[in-house]
Amino acid sequence: MPDGSQSKARIAVFISGTGTNMAALLYASRLKDAAFEIVLVASNVEGAEGLTLARTEGLATFTHSHKGITREEQDAAMEAAAVEAGADYIVLAGYMRILSQGFVERWEGRMLNIHPSLLPKYKGLNTFARAIESGDSHAGSSVHIVTHELDAGEVLAQVKVAIAADDTAESLAARVKIAEHQLYPRAVADYVSRGNDPDHLYARLRELALALPETHEKTSHGSPGFRVGTVKSGKFFAHFSQMHHGSQHIAVLVKTSSMDELLALVETQPETYYKPDYYGASGWVGVILNRPGLDWDHVQDWLMRSWREVAPARLTKLHDAADMF
Ligand code: GAR
Repeated sequence: MPDGSQSKARIAVFISGTGTNMAALLYASRLKDAAFEIVLVASNVEGAEGLTLARTEGLATFTHSHKGITREEQDAAMEAAAVEAGADYIVLAGYMRILSQGFVERWEGRMLNIHPSLLPKYKGLNTFARAIESGDSHAGSSVHIVTHELDAGEVLAQVKVAIAADDTAESLAARVKIAEHQLYPRAVADYVSRGNDPDHLYARLRELALALPETHEKTSHGSPGFRVGTVKSGKFFAHFSQMHHGSQHIAVLVKTSSMDELLALVETQPETYYKPDYYGASGWVGVILNRPGLDWDHVQDWLMRSWREVAPARLTKLHDAADMF
C-alpha cells in the first residue's frame, strides 16, 4: 500500500531499453527488509533487452507497442496492465515516451522518473553532451515526481558524477548509470516509506499548521506543537504525537468541540481517530497520520477547526472576513 502500511509497496516499472535501472530496482527489492516489490515490468518496445532479464528473474512482463496508435491509447494499455498487476506506484526507468495528461494526473504523486542530469539543468534529451559542452564540472542524475511538465516535477534525490577532461557523452553516460543504480532504489524506497516516516509527516504537518494566521511552533512535554496568538501567551491548537506511551500511531492531536464528538469519532472511525492518553481527557482527538490513504486536505480541515476553537475572536473574525472574498 502507498502510505502507512508495513507491507511492501507494489511498483510497476516501465522501460524502453536495456533496463539496467529496472535491474537495480529488482535486486534491491530482493534484499532483506526491502520497502517495495516489482509486480510488473512493462515496455513499449517488443524486444527491449530489459524484458528478457525480467522474465529470467520470474517477473511478470507486458509489452504494448506505441506504433500506429495515439498517445492516449498507448498510455491506457500500459496503465491497464499496471492496475491489473495491482501496482501502487509506476516507476519509469528509461521509458522514453512523453505521457498523456490524463494518465499523469491519475497517477499524481504515485509516478516517479529518473533523468540523467542534475535537474533543473538539461531537461529532455542529450543531457551528457550538453553538460560537457557547457564545461560543467559535474553531470549526474535526478529522481523526480512525474508531473504534466517534462522533467519538471519535485526532485526527490540526486547524485553528482564528476566530468573528466577526456569524457565523451558515452563514457560519461556509462558512469552516470552506475551512479543511477545506487540512487534509484534508495530514492524509491524512501519515497514509498514516507507515510511511515515521522520526519516527513511532521514536515508536512508543520507546513500546514504554520500557514494559518499568527501561528508558531512550541514544544510541550517534549513534543512539538503549534500555537496561535503571541509567542508569550498563545494557545495550542495542535500537538504532534509520535508513538507516545507505547502507541503505534504517528498523529496530530486537535481539539474537538465536545467529549461526545470525540467518542463518536473514535468509535465510528477507529482507523482514523483515537483518544490519546492525557490530552483525550480534555477533548483532544488523535488524527492518525501513518495510515493508508491519508488525505492531507482532511488534516488541514482539522487544523483549521482546531485553530478556530482556540484563536482569539479578533483573528477568527479577520479570517471570516477574508473568506468572504
Ligand atoms: C537512464 O540513464 C535514465 O536516466 C535515462 O535512460 C537511461 C535508461 O537506462 N532516462 C531518460 O533519459 C529519461 N528522459 P536503462 O534502460 O539501462 O535503465
